[in-house]
Amino acid sequence: MNGSKITKATPHVTQNEDLLFERSRRGRIGYRLPALDVEPTPIDEIVPAELRRDDDLEGVPELSEVDVVRHFTRLSTWNYAVDHGMYPLGSCTMKYNSRLNEKVARIAGFANLHPLAPAEEAQGALEVLYELQQHLAEITGLPGVSLQPAAGAHGEMTGVMLIRAYLDARDGKGHGRDVMLVPDSAHGTNPASANLSGFRVKTVRTTPEGLTDLDQLRELCATGDVAGLMLTNPNTLGLFERNIREICHIVHEAGGLVYMDGANMNALVGWARPGDMGVDVIHLNLHKTFSTPHGGGGPGSGPCCCTAALEPFLPVPRIVREGEAFKLDYDRPQSIGRVRAFYGNFGMAVRALAYILTHGPDGMREATEAAVLNARYIAQALASDYEKPYQAPPMHEVVFTDKRQARKGVHTLDIAKRLIDYGFHPPTIYFPLIVQGAMLIEPTESVGREELDQFVAAMRAIAREAEEEPETVRNAPHTTRIGRLDEAAAARRPVLRWKPTAKAESA
Ligand SMILES: Cc1ncc(COP(=O)(O)O)c(C=O)c1O
Repeated sequence: MNGSKITKATPHVTQNEDLLFERSRRGRIGYRLPALDVEPTPIDEIVPAELRRDDDLEGVPELSEVDVVRHFTRLSTWNYAVDHGMYPLGSCTMKYNSRLNEKVARIAGFANLHPLAPAEEAQGALEVLYELQQHLAEITGLPGVSLQPAAGAHGEMTGVMLIRAYLDARDGKGHGRDVMLVPDSAHGTNPASANLSGFRVKTVRTTPEGLTDLDQLRELCATGDVAGLMLTNPNTLGLFERNIREICHIVHEAGGLVYMDGANMNALVGWARPGDMGVDVIHLNLHKTFSTPHGGGGPGSGPCCCTAALEPFLPVPRIVREGEAFKLDYDRPQSIGRVRAFYGNFGMAVRALAYILTHGPDGMREATEAAVLNARYIAQALASDYEKPYQAPPMHEVVFTDKRQARKGVHTLDIAKRLIDYGFHPPTIYFPLIVQGAMLIEPTESVGREELDQFVAAMRAIAREAEEEPETVRNAPHTTRIGRLDEAAAARRPVLRWKPTAKAESA
């Protein structure tokens, strides 16, 4: 020390934004291999010349191990994750993913099994898949299950394809049922899945109460061209479609089928089964409801569950049990075929089964109860500060709007950014699209009372700031490494490739 007083810590290490490429120094290495203590084998004898690169490995960063470890550890601290705290992204069910699930998924026999291993050598893996199918059938009340779809949207598409195949078989090709009904509150993937599968999409209105408009549904069903309805329940406003039986009845009477988007099953597991409500086919988001990690573009899993009438059309191969053995059954002539290579994202199936078995039926019921209770707690606690457009008690998520704050020029995006300053991940914003300035908050069952209270206190503080010092909220966030991003430009003109700067080139 030269005697000068350090008045403020300079967190140069945590702030260093250099990429690994920029940190590279010629000749720096992570590992030095010990001297060879056997006769060297000429490389030609091991790797033929035509398989070897003939240029120098240019452009790969040269770094020490500590450089790499610190780089990635530093990056991890700039991010927010479910392991940091509440992550109330409505419709995304960002619940805690238990370490046990990860541990089980990493068991070598599961993680290293080759997807082309013959069935007789993969009995354990097939048993996991079979058992998971049984549990999902029990949870949904729908006996036919395929674990192939790789995400929710993929499960939706598979479900809609099942409906098409069923109608073709029932009514003969050219039956003219080419309309898929989708409520205006639906997730965008619903109309996209219907459209991709060749259906014309017609929209069903939501009532001022936040539920499917039965009168309009009856009108739309009267035309004779309806193949089905895609309904989310609880819907994306967080409300249970209490007329679900009547809705299914209307669609069935009209000769159509009911597809349920099960992304919101976190509100129902252990308490209510779509199959008992009259639903014909559903997808589940394992990467939401069954805790396997969601977000960040990781693998997903969107199993499709259906009635016995739709089962013959499920993707092949089906995983079946014959005595004590498990088999892949390709002999399903009415099947829509494969929708994904192999059997889906196997690791997600292992995690989901671990979740189901560790919770058991009572544990899953409790989790559902807590998820709904937590959302209702927030719904009640924030009702005096934020506009709540629908008055029915919400299920696992609740929607508010910025209507009151907008009078002061503070909008949903500002509130979301300000929440970051208070240490919380923002909720889902501007979705569902039918709610202007929507903030869709889903706390999940993974948060305790203290954290809920802290979240409520933060939201109330922001409401107060919006009244008294709106600029503070409008200019948020104030505590992050970077402020507001041009999110449209980031999505439309992403910079995905690093190009060397003069500094890095000369290093
Ligand atoms: C209601 C709803 N349906 C479907 C999906 C699609 O699921 P995935 O993102 O796994 O494709 C989502 C995803 O957020 C959703 O919220």
